[in-house]
Amino acid sequence: KTVSVIGVPMDLGQGRRGVDMGPYAIRYASLKERIERLGLTVNDQGNINVPTAETHDIDNQKLKYLPEVTRVSEDLAAKVADVMADGHFPIILGGDHSIAIGSIAGVAQHVKKLGVIWFDAHGDMNTEDTTPSGNIHGMPLACCIGIGNETLVNIGGYAPKLKPENVVIVGARSIDPEERELIRAHNITCFTMHEIDKLGIAKVMEEAIRIASAGTDGIHLSLDLDSIDPDMAPGVGTPVLGGVTYREGHLAMEMLFQSDKVVSCDLVEVNPILDEQNKTARTAVDLVCSLLGESTM
Ligand code: ARG
Ligand code: MN
Ligand code: MN
Ligand code: MN
Repeated sequence: KTVSVIGVPMDLGQGRRGVDMGPYAIRYASLKERIERLGLTVNDQGNINVPTAETHDIDNQKLKYLPEVTRVSEDLAAKVADVMADGHFPIILGGDHSIAIGSIAGVAQHVKKLGVIWFDAHGDMNTEDTTPSGNIHGMPLACCIGIGNETLVNIGGYAPKLKPENVVIVGARSIDPEERELIRAHNITCFTMHEIDKLGIAKVMEEAIRIASAGTDGIHLSLDLDSIDPDMAPGVGTPVLGGVTYREGHLAMEMLFQSDKVVSCDLVEVNPILDEQNKTARTAVDLVCSLLGESTM
């Protein structure tokens, strides 16, 4: 198996600087070497070109940097579709979570019936009408199921990318009131920290994999590092207490590996400026290695 790494130094989808350095931090944490040790080939495709915030104005307060995010999303979708056509497993390095609009647009072009596991403290199910911040990183999951801004919904030239019944959010603990209504209205399964505490991560992942697999040809994992508790992932723009532990995270990734369903993944929201000695990037690399089959014995 060949893994293609695609960096997206995107920080325009949210308000804090530094998340654009995520791809460098994750590479610096020995991503390539660690994956190669699993016997896989790693093809680093470099970075997608992202405009600098300083050279662009915010024209739309409800959809900040919409033209710039659109352009990057189109470029990323094309690149991801390209490496999938070559039979590679893409790992997309963020950057903020707005990049999932482009990555999923690229994956779903290839895997038409796609399930998604959205590992996140947040729902990322806002639209321009419900967003409290105007930050597009709070909207990518909504875009993928076909709701919200028309341009973002149609990245890659088609919509929707996903059926809500094959989408599962895991690790949620910060959902905006109107966003909650959208999640309910579209019947998206959401395993919050409450369910993880109560049922255990094994049961939650078993269900998540079942739902994302039902009638689909593959699962995309969108891994927002703020899903993990801030003790092991302090370097994120929107940290929330009470997250998934390091061990729960590993079991979740191991179960995804064992399912043999995962075709692609995003690693997003790593912000080295806010981090402690690259801890969050190292956690990201540890988790993705479990996703790709690393085990103790
Ligand atoms: N719900 C908030 C918003 O819409 C926060 C979103 C955080 N998203 C993320 N990908 N970290 O602005
Ligand atoms: Mn502009
Ligand atoms: Mn997110
Ligand atoms: Mn998040």
